[in-house]
Amino acid sequence: MTENPTHTARPLPGGPVAEAVFAEITARVAALRAAGVVPSLATILVGDDPASAGYIRMKQERAAELGFASPHIHLSATATPADLLWAIGAYNRDPDVHAILVQHPTPPQLDYAETILAIDPAKDVDGLHPENLGRLAAGLPGPVPCTPAGIEALLAFHEIPVAGRDVVVLGRGTTLGRPLSLLLSQKRATADAAVTVVHSGVPGWERHTRRADIVVAAVGVPGIVRPEHLRPGAVAIGGGVRYEGRRLLPDLDESCATVAGAITPRVGGVGPTTVAMLFRNAVELAERQTGLPAA
Ligand SMILES: NC(=O)c1ccc[n+]([C@@H]2O[C@H](COP(=O)([O-])OP(=O)(O)OC[C@H]3O[C@@H](n4cnc5c(N)ncnc54)[C@H](OP(=O)(O)O)[C@@H]3O)[C@@H](O)[C@H]2O)c1
Repeated sequence: MTENPTHTARPLPGGPVAEAVFAEITARVAALRAAGVVPSLATILVGDDPASAGYIRMKQERAAELGFASPHIHLSATATPADLLWAIGAYNRDPDVHAILVQHPTPPQLDYAETILAIDPAKDVDGLHPENLGRLAAGLPGPVPCTPAGIEALLAFHEIPVAGRDVVVLGRGTTLGRPLSLLLSQKRATADAAVTVVHSGVPGWERHTRRADIVVAAVGVPGIVRPEHLRPGAVAIGGGVRYEGRRLLPDLDESCATVAGAITPRVGGVGPTTVAMLFRNAVELAERQTGLPAA
């Protein structure tokens, strides 16, 4: 982005945000371990999708670096709902497992919403169990969905003012747009925004994004946000992505950097903050379950 002279937007990388969060997590893991608790993030992979297997591998490597145990169950692509419920149940009952992650997407015979419901909310590292989404809506403590939490952290780290500003979120999905709108409208110094959510039911949604101080793309339609959808100088955050093979196609068209005042890079923007928040949730769940205070 910086190599193109027409792309004047300030880049907002997620890597340094994630590194700061990992440093905090390392201290919290050390405190747990000193008290005899090994925090544990347990994973379940169904099938052999190479991208999903790669994500699991990456999370296990990060878990090892941070001092987490990372037990893993790999089910075949033909696993039945009962097979998956058995695996989740085993982790739910295991007192040494503090956080459970079922890699998404699962094969079509498995209903993802039912899968999330089966996870003990106290071990729901993705924060997507309805009880935890309810806690978010009610402003109660609990694991917050990782990508929205990562976006709030990214804005705070880069000192982008959010309180009192107009934030327009494009997309109302359960993992990103909807929880992000709840999060950024909470009463907190790094939130406190006037949040508008637009989606496929809002024809001409660009009339909203064009007046926004901050636009968050949370759709999964490559290039859906273009320069003409942004107010000059606005902050553009790319949360939505689609993969074609190994190629990552973001919602934000690259040319948005000619108009935006600040923008997340195509690679290394929101993604690293999502992973960091996953481990922050995991250490927090371990602290809650063991009654040990944060470092
Ligand atoms: N970077 C990361 O680490 C990370 C993590 C999680 C998710 N994501 C990405 O974030 C994106 C959203 O995830 P999600 O689970 O929330 O997805 P989702 O449930 O599919 O939601 C997509 C939203 O986009 C809206 N939409 C679709 N086409 C549209 C259009 N042409 N115009 C306006 N709105 C449109 C949909 O509207 P309707 O509600 O009307 O259908 C829906 O609200 C995906 O690309 C996902 O891969 C990224």
